[in-house]
Amino acid sequence: MQKTRFLTGITPSGTPHLGNYAGMIRPAVQASLNPDVESFYFLADYHALIKCQEPERVNRSTLEISASWLAAGLDPARVTFYRQSDIPEIPELTWFLTCVTGKGLLNRAHAYKAAQDKNAEAGRDGDDGVSAGLFMYPVLMGADILAFNAHKVPVGRDQIQHIEMARDMASSFNHLYGEFFTLPEAAVEEAVATLPGLDGRKMSKSYNNTIPVFTPREQLRKLIGGLVTDSRSPGEPKEVEGSALFQIYQAFASAQETAQLRQAYADGIAWGDAKALLFERIDREIAPLRARYEELMAKPQQVEQALRQGAEKARAHATPLLRELRHAVGLRPLQVAAAPESVAKAKVGAATFKQYRESDGQFYFKLVGNDGGVLLQSTGFAAPREAGAMIAQLRAQPGQLAALGQVVQPGEGYSLDDAQQALQAMVEQK
Ligand code: TRP
Repeated sequence: MQKTRFLTGITPSGTPHLGNYAGMIRPAVQASLNPDVESFYFLADYHALIKCQEPERVNRSTLEISASWLAAGLDPARVTFYRQSDIPEIPELTWFLTCVTGKGLLNRAHAYKAAQDKNAEAGRDGDDGVSAGLFMYPVLMGADILAFNAHKVPVGRDQIQHIEMARDMASSFNHLYGEFFTLPEAAVEEAVATLPGLDGRKMSKSYNNTIPVFTPREQLRKLIGGLVTDSRSPGEPKEVEGSALFQIYQAFASAQETAQLRQAYADGIAWGDAKALLFERIDREIAPLRARYEELMAKPQQVEQALRQGAEKARAHATPLLRELRHAVGLRPLQVAAAPESVAKAKVGAATFKQYRESDGQFYFKLVGNDGGVLLQSTGFAAPREAGAMIAQLRAQPGQLAALGQVVQPGEGYSLDDAQQALQAMVEQK
């Protein structure tokens, strides 16, 4: 069974805060321990350039975020952890996708539309201050995902549209050039904590209400001291509902600890004491991680090395895929234009795999010659990626065809030999 491939990017444009930690880093590190998944995590530094044009900040944030993930227990031997800008295949694929993506699709992207609306409200030209980078953001993101044929993309709600666009790009490309891409799906984790910030609104860099995860211990105590509470005095019962302090505590504490704090609220705990409890609880979890973080921050070359090794692992997937894609779109070594081809080759000059779903709910594929004939027909698969995996196997080893008689059979009017030749010719053309 092929493992489910998860992939997600983090844009390095700030310092990770407790909200990022509880909402993304911690669950992702947890998820990466599952033996049934294969995880790709990367620093989306090309994306950072869209909104951040301070070179020092991009660089520092890349280090801070990488060090945070590693300190939180991400094991680079178990996952593929890399930096987007170390993968030249990503910008190359961005261009291939750009050429099969309707401009109209990008016009509808939320981030671009929001910028347009803001300009309209202010009576400015719609594109005022909007870079082509912002406009192209979804295509770069599509390339991030498709370069690794990820199945699942864990993202926040605000990113779902981008995953749908990546699916559109994958379909258009597949339709034009053959079935190269798996259609990715968004994985939105409903249960994941969104933490309130110091002022009670959602913790976010843009509200300037964050608590950096690895701020020194005394600084953490001070910041938590400034967390908003109501004005109830010691001894007065307090509401857990709407209490930012309680919500943050809950994201770090066990069910039993949370029940105890709930009781303490009812018993009228003083806010100062509740803050001390919160501080100690967070620090208990963070302190060992903080020590590792500080070590990594002091030795950036260790982080650099981890990322470079990650890039090598990542490119082991992306380089062969892009080689195929270059060929598929016609960027090939030059050859005599009218080279005579064998009959089989001519018949399959434009043979392509088509994937589809039947009304029985199963997923199928067929190999269709340029004359429309069905050279190969698969049986049904429960999941599209199983069909995709079988196609990949056939591409990789056309000689195995005969051994796969259970799964794929020649279509009406074709022999196993025809199909085999067709496959062989397809592969050789690459
Ligand atoms: N756009 C994402 C964000 O801002 C970051 C990102 C870039 C990403 N490329 C990606 C997420 C690919 C998932 C997959 O959160």
